[in-house]
Amino acid sequence: EKQKIQITALGLFPYKGMNLIRGVHQVQHLDSLETFEIRDDDIVVVTYPRSGTTWTQYILSLLYHEDQMTEGSNKPIQELVLQQQTINKNIRPQGLREKGKVIYIARNPKDVAVSLFHLQNFTKVLKSEPDFNTFLNQFLKGEVLGGSWFDHVADWYAHKDEFDILSMTYEDMIKDTRGAIVRISNFLGKKLDDQTIDTIVDKSSFKNMKEDPQARRDKQHPAVFEQSGSFIRKGKVGDWKIMFTVAQSEGFDQIYMEKMKDLALEFDWKL
Ligand code: A3P
Repeated sequence: EKQKIQITALGLFPYKGMNLIRGVHQVQHLDSLETFEIRDDDIVVVTYPRSGTTWTQYILSLLYHEDQMTEGSNKPIQELVLQQQTINKNIRPQGLREKGKVIYIARNPKDVAVSLFHLQNFTKVLKSEPDFNTFLNQFLKGEVLGGSWFDHVADWYAHKDEFDILSMTYEDMIKDTRGAIVRISNFLGKKLDDQTIDTIVDKSSFKNMKEDPQARRDKQHPAVFEQSGSFIRKGKVGDWKIMFTVAQSEGFDQIYMEKMKDLALEFDWKL
């Protein structure tokens, strides 16, 4: 018998603490995540949405797929590298504690909120919410795509020692892209020469990725995204400053301090 699926104000379906997109996130796959078999050489990129997932996947594709380094792949990036935004504490594969590696990327939540706001409004299959203040309140309550940013980041940081994990911030990646790529390759046990690193830095640049349709979900799924927007949008730290009012920023800081007081991680809010 078909279960009645509840839909949130933004057109998402709630699933184990996350809010997801019907037709994109498949419940039967999500249900099997907890017992999904992990192999020794599996690498899982875990993020809250809009935190640098595609960028990290692109870097991994350059590390693992030779044609990406030469002529470029003709496959969407999501087919080359597995990503899991849907892994939160309720659906974490048990096997990841014993096998495989996790790359966890977090981004300052004000920029995440702005980036997610734009995504919400250029995703055709979701309800648009043109008022940023309304959206921001939904973000703070965790009623947006991916659920609560606060829970996602706090929980992964609280449990990170249980995994073979590399955790980085989006801001680290912007400030020192080369350094970030070296950290990733070292973590994966790959020794790269300087020239290879330079090539990866160049190919995974914002400009190159924006021009590569295989990096752009919006180009691959025209039925899901308005073609006026771009999945790879601005790529800046501190873009929230042109969106947040002073009152919104102060209100946000207060909630952030209450919810994240135990977090051993400092974000760069601007550069
Ligand atoms: P903005 O909307 O702030 O531009 P995700 O892939 O997790 O959904 O994250 C998307 C965000 O990462 C978007 O942020 C996007 O522009 C940014 N991004 C993607 N590729 C990037 C790159 N090569 N350099 C910097 N930012 C990048």
